[in-house]
Parts: sequence; C-alpha cells; structure tokens
Amino acid sequence: MAERKEETADYALSHAEKEGLYKAIFSRRDVRSHFVEKEVPDAVLLRILNAAHHAPSVGFSQPWNFILIKDEEIRKRVKESFERERERSINMLENNKERQKKYARLKLEGIMESALNICVTYDPTRFGPFVLGRTSIEDTGVYSVCCAIQNLWLAARAEGIGVGWVSILSNEDLEKILAIPAHVKPIAYLCLGYVEEFASKPDLERAGWLHRMDLARVVCYEKWGISESEKWSELSEAIDRLST
Ligand SMILES: Cc1cc2nc3c(=O)[nH]c(=O)nc-3n(C[C@H](O)[C@H](O)[C@H](O)COP(=O)(O)O)c2cc1C
Repeated sequence: MAERKEETADYALSHAEKEGLYKAIFSRRDVRSHFVEKEVPDAVLLRILNAAHHAPSVGFSQPWNFILIKDEEIRKRVKESFERERERSINMLENNKERQKKYARLKLEGIMESALNICVTYDPTRFGPFVLGRTSIEDTGVYSVCCAIQNLWLAARAEGIGVGWVSILSNEDLEKILAIPAHVKPIAYLCLGYVEEFASKPDLERAGWLHRMDLARVVCYEKWGISESEKWSELSEAIDRLST
C-alpha cells in the first residue's frame, strides 16, 4: 500500500477506504472449489450487478448484459460443454505428458456447486452503429465488458462472495443453451457463491502451474523493452525492491 505521507490529495479516499479497496483487489481470487451451500440474497446480488453496471464503457455504450442462471438443467448442459472442451485441452497437451497430467488434476470450474452462474455478454449493436471511441479499435467494446466483469469480481469479493471465470467452454454451446441472439457474443461465464475461504495465492500458483511475475518484468520506460531510465530511477528502484 502507498505510504501515508502521500495520502494528501483532495479527492483521495480516506486511509480506511483505500485499505478496503486494496484489500478487495489483493484478496480477490478465482474460486472454483471452496463454494459453500448458501444462497446469495437478492440485495447482495443487486449491489454486485449494479457495481458491474457502473463500469467504464467505450462511448458510454454499456454493451453488457448479465444472464442470471440458477436452473440445474441449464447448468448441466453448460457443464457438459466444459467437459468436452476440457477433454480437447487435455489432448492439446499430448506431447507434454507431465503438463497434461498436472492439467488433468486441476479443478477449473464450479458450475454446479456455486449458488448461481452469470453469463456476461457483449452487444456490439448497443447505441450503434456509431459508438464514440470505438471507431478505430473495434475491440474496445469487448474491453468495456471486461471492465464490468472486473467491477463485478471486486464487488463480489467485498461482499464475501467468490467468483470463478470459466472459459473452457464452447461459445457456440453457450449461445444455444442460453438462447443468445446471433449478434450478441458471450464474454464470460461466471460461477458465484459464498466460500469457505479466499486462498492467499491463485490456485494455479499453489498447484505449481505458474507463478506471479515480478512487477519489474512487466514495466518498461518510455518505449517497449526499456527497463532502466534516469527519469524513472526512483520508481524503478521501488519496483525492484518490491521483488526482493
Ligand atoms: C479471461 C479469463 C478466463 C479464465 N478462465 C478460467 C477457466 O476456464 N478456469 C479456471 O479455473 N480459471 C479461469 N480463469 C481464472 C485464472 O486462472 C485466474 O484468474 C488466475 O489463475 C489468477 O488467479 P486469481 O484470479 O485467483 O488471482 C480465467 C481468468 C480470466 C481473466
């Protein structure tokens, strides 16, 4: 967390408010296996959805929809899609047996065990065809939906609710199962529910799949690939200290 002496800007949140925000950010997890059997009250879900709906969006186009799913039959069909896609992924690792075995042991979804599922979709026609700001970079529409998803994820964490993003699915299957119109694209399939715990590290890190890179490895100065710069020396030293 930033040093206290920096907390003087007029519009900065109070120390306690900042602590809350950073706590939500750093303790948010992708949750697949620690769901408990407990309904999410409508009032809580409302706050989470409303947080998602207040995300930034290109040209204020708000191109998202949230399909809320409790129905067992629908979930079973989504789970079957997951199983098929998981098999496909396992086959892709055919020439790396060790990785394949490790992958096969991972728990990568909580479709049936979670309290509810939410499919977040992207509608490129919303307030279009001219969407301010989307005229050069088409993908900004999808980026906007991802901003909404991240808001949802953090708000859920603040409410003590875990979220798991399942992308090992066929979008074609999802479109059929959820009756999504042809012009709308599924972006995320999320599983939500109260949890036994929020692990201190990502599941994939704990399973030895990958680890978090040092911040220093992903920050460069003025141009791609430049990792040292006079102008940025203090920050860059602080970033290096983070890694040690
Ligand atoms: C676009 C996207 C797709 C993901 N798809 C899956 C998935 O299919 N199954 C899964 O278990 N986790 C999935 N995840 C979660 C990541 O594995 C997880 O975010 C990452 O390992 C870091 O862990 P953390 O979210 O707990 O910090 C996805 C995350 C994102 C952002």
